[in-house]
Amino acid sequence: MNKDLRPNPQPSTIDIARAEQLRVMLNHYAHAYYSLDKPEVPDAEFDRLFVELQTLETNYPALLTSDSPTQRVGGKVSEAFRQVRHDVPMLSIKTVTDTKASGAILFDQEIRKKLGKATRPQLQQLFDDPDEVEYVAELKFDGLAMSLRYEDGVLVLAATRGDGEVGEDVTENVRKIPEIPLRLMGKAPAILEVRGEVYLRFDKLEAINRRQKELGLPKFVNPRNTAAGTIRQLDSAIVGQRQLSFFAYALAALPLGHDGKALFDTHWKVLEALRGWGFKVCSYSRCVRGASELVAFHELVARERVVLPFAIDGVVYKVNQLDLQTQLGFRAREPNWAVAHKFPPEEQPTSVIEIDIQVGRTGKLTPVAFLEPVDVGGVSVSRVTLHNDDETQCKDVRIGDIVIVRRAGDVIPEIVRIDLEKRPIDVGRPFEMFVRLQGKCPICASAIVREEGEADYRCTGGLFCSAQRKQAILHFAQRRAVEVEGLGDKLVDQLVDSGIIHTLPDLYRLGLTALANLDRMADKSALNILEALQKSKQTTLPRFLFGLGIRHVGEATAKELARHFGQLDTIMAASEAQLLEVADVGPIVAKSIRTFFDQPHNVEVVEQLRACGVTWPEGPPAERAPTHLSGKTFVLTGTLPTLAREDAKAMIEAAGGKVAGSVSKKTSYVVAGAEAGSKLDKAQELGVPVLDEAGLMALLEATQDDQ
Ligand code: IVH
Repeated sequence: MNKDLRPNPQPSTIDIARAEQLRVMLNHYAHAYYSLDKPEVPDAEFDRLFVELQTLETNYPALLTSDSPTQRVGGKVSEAFRQVRHDVPMLSIKTVTDTKASGAILFDQEIRKKLGKATRPQLQQLFDDPDEVEYVAELKFDGLAMSLRYEDGVLVLAATRGDGEVGEDVTENVRKIPEIPLRLMGKAPAILEVRGEVYLRFDKLEAINRRQKELGLPKFVNPRNTAAGTIRQLDSAIVGQRQLSFFAYALAALPLGHDGKALFDTHWKVLEALRGWGFKVCSYSRCVRGASELVAFHELVARERVVLPFAIDGVVYKVNQLDLQTQLGFRAREPNWAVAHKFPPEEQPTSVIEIDIQVGRTGKLTPVAFLEPVDVGGVSVSRVTLHNDDETQCKDVRIGDIVIVRRAGDVIPEIVRIDLEKRPIDVGRPFEMFVRLQGKCPICASAIVREEGEADYRCTGGLFCSAQRKQAILHFAQRRAVEVEGLGDKLVDQLVDSGIIHTLPDLYRLGLTALANLDRMADKSALNILEALQKSKQTTLPRFLFGLGIRHVGEATAKELARHFGQLDTIMAASEAQLLEVADVGPIVAKSIRTFFDQPHNVEVVEQLRACGVTWPEGPPAERAPTHLSGKTFVLTGTLPTLAREDAKAMIEAAGGKVAGSVSKKTSYVVAGAEAGSKLDKAQELGVPVLDEAGLMALLEATQDDQ
């Protein structure tokens, strides 16, 4: 999804000035053309400027003035956008102010109160609650509301919401939206007024912007404004090109059957009927019971909204029973039976308290901004990585700045921009890593270097640097390496800071007294750590190799190395050329492995670890690595019927394949299970073959037979 899509963007001063300049120029050229009959510019140039102004006005509706030349195209306006009074007003929905789960719970309680039902707190409901209310939970689409009138099954009028009472007739443009039926399917009432949302998918917005770029025109920034601007286009051919979409979500009035009774008794049945008549009804809509299911829906959509192909503005809850809706009635222009529930804002301003520099396991120096803690998307954010020197300088983040922090879904929080207008006069100086550190590691004062072509500065201190030492120990002790249960960062900090541990092997020389003397360490915990250390001595070659923390040697490479060579000594003695024979090892990795074992202190660490009793089974080198799937990359998505994701991954890797996290043109196969999400869409878009579990098994077996 495009990160630039921000709600309600404000025009910059440059945009404001450009819009004014365009208005003056266009009025001038139009006057020369129409009144003086002396064209000053070619038609194409006039059109280009005209579209540029239109785009700016669409992006920033605040820029639109009534005297803009875009509002006056040869008398077409009144004809294209005749005003229409809605027979049934188009309503708004009240928004609950509380964006947390409690927003849904309070709405449910209010409904129950108004309906005279009991409002027991949820937790006390041990049995099926007869007073539970049924709701339809839907997405709140971020587009523009549309009313569609069908007579004898044929679309005769499409009108915008306008002020709710009077809208504009945009029928000709709406006819160009492929998802809006021009004729209803099946048997439909003679007169039917369908309400729904016209919107623009993100991919269509991107396509429009690619064309804008080709034409040298500015980008559209927001799908809602672009959809609204498109619907008001005077040239309906443009509407056709832009490919708007439509979701139906209601009927203006309930149709009656021959017997004079209403055709439907629930909103859910209305949605099903709309589907039957040929409308798209969003597949996220759910019929749910009680507050807990409303909350679950809100949480589900909060998690999944980052992968939705269109913009939403929260969710909507509607009482399902239509007779209850009638009973609840309206207040002003808002029904009492529906509510919009938004999500905690994903972007929040806060201030930068400090920019600190952290040293990673490989000596990488990472600037980190410490922030005034702020709640973003329901989570408190107090620090964000600035990645590296270049990025920090490029963003020009400084101490004291007001920054906008974004956290969408499970995404790691980041600074999206700086509010320069709020930059305090006493703001810090521009950040520059080398100057700030005076060329020295903030932990061990060794020189820092930045090699050519690299984005990062590194501390050259190696294991002399206590920060790197701590990280190296944690890396070695992690679950995916030799696994020392209970050895966390607080304990490692204490052990290294107090000088008890200098090198990895010191871990295995720890005694009970040293451990038990540490702050907040009970005898029992100390014993547990010693036991965990003892247990970790029996390991495997891939885990040990990975645990050494050789640059560029991840778990998969460690496995390949172990399989290829069988023994550690052979790996340590292998030349770069020999290392290159291993699947998964390229020149950079080969060089990094060789360099690591060329350092006497690294060899010493390995020897001492062995001397301390760390062992693993060794074997002869693999005769032939099962590489029939080598070079093939798989992406797993959704839940497979029988295989856990880890197992599927292990089987693919055992056959020489790789498992990646995201789909690209280079992906060989996507393995999809139930509730596969955007990765499956992406695979289909890129034409990547998709396998189910059976297909994967067949592929694994077929290739085994080849051997
Ligand atoms: S129902 C009962 N359902 O929200 C009110 N409206 O404030 C009738 N909207 O501009 C509208 N998604 O276009 C309804 N699932 C949904 C909606 C939805 C978006 C918009 C609607 C209107 C606004 C109402």
